[in-house]
Amino acid sequence: EKAGYKHFMLKEIFEQPRSIADTISGNMSWLKGDGKLEGVDPKSFDRIQIIACGTSYHAGLIGKFYIENLTRIQVEVDYASEYRYRNPIVNEKTLVIAITQSGETADTLAAMKLAKEKGAKTLAICNVIGSTITREADTTIYTYAGPEISVASTKAFTTQLTALFILALYLGKERKTLSSEKLEAYFKLLMEVPSKMEEFLNTERKEEIVKKIALEFYKASDALYLGRYVNYPIALEGALKLKEISYIHAEGYPAGEMKHGPIALIDETMPVIVVATKSKVYEKVLSNVEEVKARKGRVVSIVNKGDKAVKQLSEFSIEVPEVNEFLSPIINVVPLQLFAYYIADFLGYDVDQPRNLAKSVTVE
Ligand code: F6R
Repeated sequence: EKAGYKHFMLKEIFEQPRSIADTISGNMSWLKGDGKLEGVDPKSFDRIQIIACGTSYHAGLIGKFYIENLTRIQVEVDYASEYRYRNPIVNEKTLVIAITQSGETADTLAAMKLAKEKGAKTLAICNVIGSTITREADTTIYTYAGPEISVASTKAFTTQLTALFILALYLGKERKTLSSEKLEAYFKLLMEVPSKMEEFLNTERKEEIVKKIALEFYKASDALYLGRYVNYPIALEGALKLKEISYIHAEGYPAGEMKHGPIALIDETMPVIVVATKSKVYEKVLSNVEEVKARKGRVVSIVNKGDKAVKQLSEFSIEVPEVNEFLSPIINVVPLQLFAYYIADFLGYDVDQPRNLAKSVTVE
């Protein structure tokens, strides 16, 4: 059932191009043409709150960029476990989006219930047909990742990003903040993601390169992950993957925030993994990498092919195909998933069943 892979996690990492393609085609009917997303009127709210836990929360942070940029609707993102106890300002003019792979996470269910009681409209982004959240939400957008067995979430995450991007396009279309030409152009870029990811996974021995870097760092006791803008949440997600399966302490930080404290941690033993693909903040990330380098940090960078400036400052680089910057998190997370996977495997841990963790957290 692992189809020749050593662990489900690795199998699921490699399934991502397919899962993303399925999530696009599975949601095309309501995005394209005269299609409608049943259950929620796209003009009936003036702000959005996204609630989720763990990896799904990181998808929500990126979803905020998508929705705010393409629709200019204000979006807040909360951990479900915080939202439910912070007396949130929520009413009939609020759309609450709950992101959950399993559809059974106790905190996410409770947060959505609270929002519903206060009159909010509710939309679930979920991977499991018929799960509790899909029965309670006004409408559901499914991700078509297929069953995710590994406790560490991989393909659920990249399909959640896909679904959020499609939702942002839809809201932009319905609320007329996005022309049909722009929508078509973005949709075309989205359609290219599976083949770009396939290109990364299956050509030029990328797996070997990541493995080699993992071999260099698997004895580390800490790691820092840096990113900015749409790739800041990818730094958080990369750090979470490393923590949960390899038990190495890791932190994700917005690269621009380093000089306000965390840079004190950097010395010649500290692995610093930087997401530095092309975007409007590339130059900013470059100067952050220079700051790290000046303190002798060991830089591992995720860059696009042809990169010179960041590569020059890095001990190791992993090249990924270039895609639109909004969509770059979907590609950039893949080397970080592989990196965490190989480190955990080198350390001999039970990758699919990490200690202290359960696939779905049905208690508070
Ligand atoms: C991390 C991970 C968890 C889940 C979180 C939410 O790899 O798997 O952080 O993302 O427990 O689970 P769902 O999405 O099922 O609500």
